[in-house]
Amino acid sequence: KTIALLTGGTTGEWVISVKSAATIAQNIDTDLYEVYKIMLNDKGWFYEPADSVKIDIDKNDFSLTLDGRKIKFDGVFIAIHGSPGEDGKLQGYFDMLNIPYTTCDALTSSITMNKGYTKAIVTGIENLNTAKSVQIFKDGNYSLDQIKADLKLPYFVKPNNGGSSIGMSKVTHADDLETALDKAFNEDTQILIEEFIEGREFTVGVAKLDGEIVVLPPTEVETAKEFFDFEAKYTPGVATETTPALIREETKDRVAQIAAEVYKRLNCRGVVRIDFILTGDEGDFYFIEINTIPGQTATSFIPQQVAAMGLTLKDFYSRLMKETLN
Ligand code: DAL
Ligand code: MG
Repeated sequence: KTIALLTGGTTGEWVISVKSAATIAQNIDTDLYEVYKIMLNDKGWFYEPADSVKIDIDKNDFSLTLDGRKIKFDGVFIAIHGSPGEDGKLQGYFDMLNIPYTTCDALTSSITMNKGYTKAIVTGIENLNTAKSVQIFKDGNYSLDQIKADLKLPYFVKPNNGGSSIGMSKVTHADDLETALDKAFNEDTQILIEEFIEGREFTVGVAKLDGEIVVLPPTEVETAKEFFDFEAKYTPGVATETTPALIREETKDRVAQIAAEVYKRLNCRGVVRIDFILTGDEGDFYFIEINTIPGQTATSFIPQQVAAMGLTLKDFYSRLMKETLN
């Protein structure tokens, strides 16, 4: 089978996308799949067989012509974090071309790219809590005083469609709210302001493999920084990540059940990763967000969790691909 591995993207997360695609390219079973890495960015859509040789993709059918031979893809592995890979745009395009892809469908991808809309859907899942929040729009009328009256400090200010914590701030003094909003509005026209939930942070991968929903072992993330920001996420040593997390079996079972339910409710496909806060002495789980194209860099959570399950990445990616091409 001939597979396009898509990387790049048009957001600040493109750097991560390149690293994710590198891990996938290194581990995918090349006996089963002939893989072409395709870059999609502001400059175009192209295959780069050598340095500074760029061969454009034909956008009419997403084909590639190499030495006069037209290559059509049996499927695509989307490794683009953020737009246009994680927000439904490419999914809609590939649906129209009838080319199967590894991720959630167009609707789920676009909804889950929006933290506020996602929250509305997962609210009500048994054993899952959500932080009190306010959603505001750039051109809409919102009042700083109203936000301050409605929410308890500290709070997180998040661009609704962001990833990797870009444009995000933790506000501990009400005076800093306006600066935080400006920063977030630089990234997006919608902002979610959420009350801070004190607790331990966990992230859990979920995938559909051989037709079954499989919850990966959870990871606990600890950082000495104010929160798990871009630097903490991608600088080795800034955060401590423990996979599988050292929590009681009952707590593990509970989070696995919640994660599977979130996956079902949002009608997910492929591999996703869900972030939670656990309060008190292994008390309540709070939903933070879902990433429908989770990082696959060599040190990312999904590769750690796959290893903790006793699977090789090669096997994991083959099973994802098999599920996609079904
Ligand atoms: N958005 C980053 C890549 C992640 O969730 O892993
Ligand atoms: Mg994210």
